[in-house]
Amino acid sequence: MTLSFEKEIDIGRGDVLSDPDERPEAADQFRAVIIWMSEVKMIPEREYILKLAFRTTSAVITAIRGKFSLETLSLEPARTLGINEIGTCNIRAATNLVFEPYSASRELGGFILIDRASNETVGAGMIQYALRRSSNVVWHSFDVDKSARAGIKGQKPRVMWFSGLSGSGKSTIANLVEKRLFSMNKHTYILDGDNIRHGINKDLGFTEEDRVENIRRIAEIARLMVDAGLIVLAAFISPFRKDREFARSLFADGEFIEVFVDTPIEICELRDVKGLYKKARCGEIPNFTGVNSAYERPEKPEIVLRGDETNIEKEVEKLINFLR
Ligand code: ADX
Repeated sequence: MTLSFEKEIDIGRGDVLSDPDERPEAADQFRAVIIWMSEVKMIPEREYILKLAFRTTSAVITAIRGKFSLETLSLEPARTLGINEIGTCNIRAATNLVFEPYSASRELGGFILIDRASNETVGAGMIQYALRRSSNVVWHSFDVDKSARAGIKGQKPRVMWFSGLSGSGKSTIANLVEKRLFSMNKHTYILDGDNIRHGINKDLGFTEEDRVENIRRIAEIARLMVDAGLIVLAAFISPFRKDREFARSLFADGEFIEVFVDTPIEICELRDVKGLYKKARCGEIPNFTGVNSAYERPEKPEIVLRGDETNIEKEVEKLINFLR
């Protein structure tokens, strides 16, 4: 088939031609029914590849509204979907997609989700409708901006992200760095795992999907604080590389400084300040990082230091110099 146009327009594979009086919708957020097909369970807020008709983009499940129970045939609350489970989810694509509800068009309403790393098809979905939040929310710009707010404080806003095992010394070092910055009249704030989990993240535990959400929220909070002109010190185990990469992606170049507190587990365990390793070894804490849940070491952190260094002041000085 050959198409010729009256006007010159840039179209290609994946674009949709339609009757002008019956245009399909375009949106980037949807409610969809998803059937999960992978042994590896669904993780909300993780990026998957989405293929709809001839379009390929990345997408995240932003929420699971419920999963179908085959026993009661009703929707039950769920945090994740396992193999062969069916759920109603909200999904956000990285670009606008032309679509129709699956009930009107299988071609423009059906999609698949693919895992980025394994290339495996992990889910299949049917779009029900677009979420209006995608079309009716715009970004509002204000006149007093990040650089103005930072300027009045006489500093360059940044986030120093400390990652490492429980007991590695993240909070201790962050505390020393903040004291030094404070004495230099810098405006700072510490975001710390144990504290955040008492407030905004008190609904989250330590399963993989809860940890993803924990880091997502913290990264967004850190972004707001950096936008407010602050120097943020974030101390979280943040065991998964993908989540630290997500956090980094929210910041401009040079604004995100990853500090790997590389204290060997034997030493963290020997210290065991909170007695948690002992409990974890007795099987009393499931998903404990380093014991029965993975810690993925940072590959290219800006700074590596050891929390058991005897000359900790020297390490702190290194960090301060990095912020100058
Ligand atoms: S993260 O993995 O999601 O980044 P976060 O830094 O917020 O963890 O919280 C870690 C703190 O929670 C630890 O310092 C420890 O005190 C406590 N904790 C309780 N249960 C666990 C667990 N299963 N794994 C790791 N830390 C735990």
